[in-house]
Amino acid sequence: MAKEKTIYVCTNCGNTSVKWEGKCNACQEWNTMVEQKQAVQTQQEIKSASWNTTTDSFSPFQPVRLDEITIGQVFRTITPDGELNRTLGGGIVPGSLILMGGAPGIGKSTLLLQTAMQLNQKVLYVSGEESEEQIKMRADRLGQQQSGVFFLAETNIIQILRTAMEMQPGLVIIDSIQVMSSPYVDSTPGTITQVRECTGEIMRFSKQSNIPVFIIGHITKEGMLAGPKLLEHMVDVVIQFEGDRNYNYRILRTIKNRFGSTDELGIYEMNEKGLKPVNNPSELLISQSPEKFSGSTVAATLEGQRPMLIETQSLVSQAVYGTPQRSATGYDLRRLNMLLAVLEKRIGLYFGQKDVFLNIAGGLKITDPAIDLSIAVSLISSLQNQTMDKRICFAGEIGLTGEVRAVKSIEQRIREADRLGFSKIFVSKFSIQGIPVKKFKTEVIGLGKIGDLFEFLFTEMV
Ligand code: TYD
Ligand code: MG
Repeated sequence: MAKEKTIYVCTNCGNTSVKWEGKCNACQEWNTMVEQKQAVQTQQEIKSASWNTTTDSFSPFQPVRLDEITIGQVFRTITPDGELNRTLGGGIVPGSLILMGGAPGIGKSTLLLQTAMQLNQKVLYVSGEESEEQIKMRADRLGQQQSGVFFLAETNIIQILRTAMEMQPGLVIIDSIQVMSSPYVDSTPGTITQVRECTGEIMRFSKQSNIPVFIIGHITKEGMLAGPKLLEHMVDVVIQFEGDRNYNYRILRTIKNRFGSTDELGIYEMNEKGLKPVNNPSELLISQSPEKFSGSTVAATLEGQRPMLIETQSLVSQAVYGTPQRSATGYDLRRLNMLLAVLEKRIGLYFGQKDVFLNIAGGLKITDPAIDLSIAVSLISSLQNQTMDKRICFAGEIGLTGEVRAVKSIEQRIREADRLGFSKIFVSKFSIQGIPVKKFKTEVIGLGKIGDLFEFLFTEMV
């Protein structure tokens, strides 16, 4: 048995240190150093492994000239789920290792079980978290073909991979990486050493067998996969399941993809029969009721490459306590405060003594800056208690000087508004130069600064 020494590894960036430190020297994160055992190499071993000591047994490798490499055709497995195909860049690549991250209870097991049942192939579903009965109950609930899916409740990764090699399924699903363990490593499941070792074994398996593998990884409280960077480096594709558990919408986002773009995302709705792909998100995220309320506006946002029209709602009311309340769901609170300051300074609307509540429909979190304009209009609409025409939408970022700034892919946004029959879309006048706006039925109005809105929308200023 080789001698071992103890080193400390940062779970965030992988930096190593001989002594424990509260804060990682490399990435400056706190409380990320964990203990790890490492075999000590003897002087003899180090010497023989060095590149400048000649050993008789070595003959140089033959690097291949780039233009002489030919690519065999890759046949991706196209699943019946268009949203999943889209996030994976067009289907499952043979031999690929795909990591799916997400908070507990968001629907990771549901999505992968449902995919397994829909595939016209033998699938091995391994769970270290749930029993046969639990999986069976979920499968019954999803109500699809069950005969292609084989279930194994096991956590020993070596035995699992041996079984998979023997069985030769079309796909393997490992639920979850945090409960798997390798008998060759002396640490508990879920630790960085185990997670790395198991992932390494799975990767060797997928490359050798050419069988694609999905691994599920839970996200910690801080929103990170355990051993995040290490895992992300190792796998081919990282997709992340997001959403608010209190709402039905889920977004499947591509974080890394060796076989496609990371600008893709899939949208699902969780119902009593599993996750239903949503092809037309805009139609769900805009309220269908004909009634008009003040403070409610529609933003033409873009998630990945996908235009999505979303309702933004504000409520501005007289503060009853000394300090006015500010709350934002699905939008950055600091950005809301900034917008309020801009509205106050640039167009003289006072929110100082008002409570302000902001909400984005569907429990979605929007980081697209183009939503600013819609939020600003909804704030003004609620403050002045003026309702907005529901067939108007907005796309523009707001700068500190009150200017409405151009946002990317404006044509795609206008096209989506046009498709859904909106009568007007307000955008930055700088973003429509050179764009043939006349071809759309939707009228496109370019604004220079936020104050220009009053010319078109609000009849009076307070
Ligand atoms: P699950 O897939 O177990 O989440 P994860 O694996 O990410 O921890 O999904 C959990 C939730 O999904 C659970 O709270 C119930 C809900 N659910 C439905 O609403 N409909 C369904 O058909 C299924 C199977 C689950
Ligand atoms: Mg699960």
